[in-house]
Amino acid sequence: MKILLVGSGGREHALGLGLLADPACTSLHAAPGNPGIATFAQCHAIDITSNAQIVALAQELAADLVVIGPELPLVNGVADDLRRLKIPVFGPSKAAAQLEGSKTFAKEVMSDAGVPTAHSFTCTTQIQIEKALDCFGPPYVVKDDGLAGGKGVVVTQDRQEALAHALACKRVVIEEYLNGPEVSLFGISDGTSILAMQPAQDFKRAHDNDEGSNTGGMGAYSPLSWAPSDIVDDTYTQVLAPMIAEMNARGTPFVGLLYAGLALTDHGIRVIEFNVRFGDPETQVLIPLLKTPLATLLYKGATAGLSDTVLEWRDEAAVTVVLAAQGYPTAPQCGGHISELPTIENVQIFHAGTCLNGQGLIATGGRVLSVTGVGSDLTEARDRAYRAISQISLPGSFYRSDIAFNASVAEKGN
Ligand code: AMP
Ligand code: GLY
Repeated sequence: MKILLVGSGGREHALGLGLLADPACTSLHAAPGNPGIATFAQCHAIDITSNAQIVALAQELAADLVVIGPELPLVNGVADDLRRLKIPVFGPSKAAAQLEGSKTFAKEVMSDAGVPTAHSFTCTTQIQIEKALDCFGPPYVVKDDGLAGGKGVVVTQDRQEALAHALACKRVVIEEYLNGPEVSLFGISDGTSILAMQPAQDFKRAHDNDEGSNTGGMGAYSPLSWAPSDIVDDTYTQVLAPMIAEMNARGTPFVGLLYAGLALTDHGIRVIEFNVRFGDPETQVLIPLLKTPLATLLYKGATAGLSDTVLEWRDEAAVTVVLAAQGYPTAPQCGGHISELPTIENVQIFHAGTCLNGQGLIATGGRVLSVTGVGSDLTEARDRAYRAISQISLPGSFYRSDIAFNASVAEKGN
């Protein structure tokens, strides 16, 4: 099977390795890819904000499967264009991608499907905004309705700040604050069946102890030894299955990866958000742990063939730590030189924002690398990830030192 993988981040690097490890994948192409992906796949320098360029490449390659990494091409409707040409694609239609593209739409579908989430108001005027803020009180949760590249959500005790953010959005969702640990749980769907993956936890804040700004994610780990043992079943029953049924009933079936961002509150599971693609950096811990051959799995997802599939996992743990450029997430400095990457057993270094120039590897994005360690438990996986990342130098760069720390301590106590 010839596969075209669209995207250029750490997530795509991990997906690419997973796809290639499946013997069913005989040829792997990436668009545009990155220097890490280029070590094992053929990269094509196209503009992935252009549906026409993605479609033309898939046709030229005669791809048997197209896997879309990032949300933007999905929200742009590239999956519809590919399906129209009968090219199997793992990724939702434009209509189904609105689950990530519009928070109001996601709330409507959740409401119709009976999926538990925070109470919310969608507002467009200052009067509505102030009423909603005062209805819930602090901490205030204010979300830009549209795609905002991870910068759309403000959670604050400060009413002024909440109001200012809300007024800066065209349409804004103001919602109840959910108290409890956050979990990312992904479902792989062919439109009617959905398979729940094992949960992961992402670290969204820039600095240790969850201080600093919200980011795209500074690290992740899986499995979650502290989570309730029925979390996967509960999420399947209360969230994933009803969402797939509701999207079907609306005539806009969801094919692809449904990412449920959950809060585990005292009152049970609540959905914080949906994304319509693999999470980054959660993918960098889940793919190394997944035993089920990935290319076959995603092909089945793309071709309504998942009903008999069961996911299998390695009995190991994985921890990923993100190396971020100075100034991330507000004003990341690009252009820094990255030292030679170490080769360590049970460690995978995924490229997230890099390019090669005459002098070697250069940082091109806020999140530069994502370093995953795999081990028999979280402590071993952590040690490996941190040993590797400590050997990489990029002037001004930083990483969190507490990724999976509490969970590794909790695991030891079990
Ligand atoms: P989102 O982009 O919706 O994932 O929001 C980014 C982050 O804001 C989440 O990972 C949470 O940490 C926080 N957040 C979003 N919604 C809520 C909520 N209703 N209650 C508490 N925290 C939230
Ligand atoms: N890890 C958060 C995201 O992928 O959106």
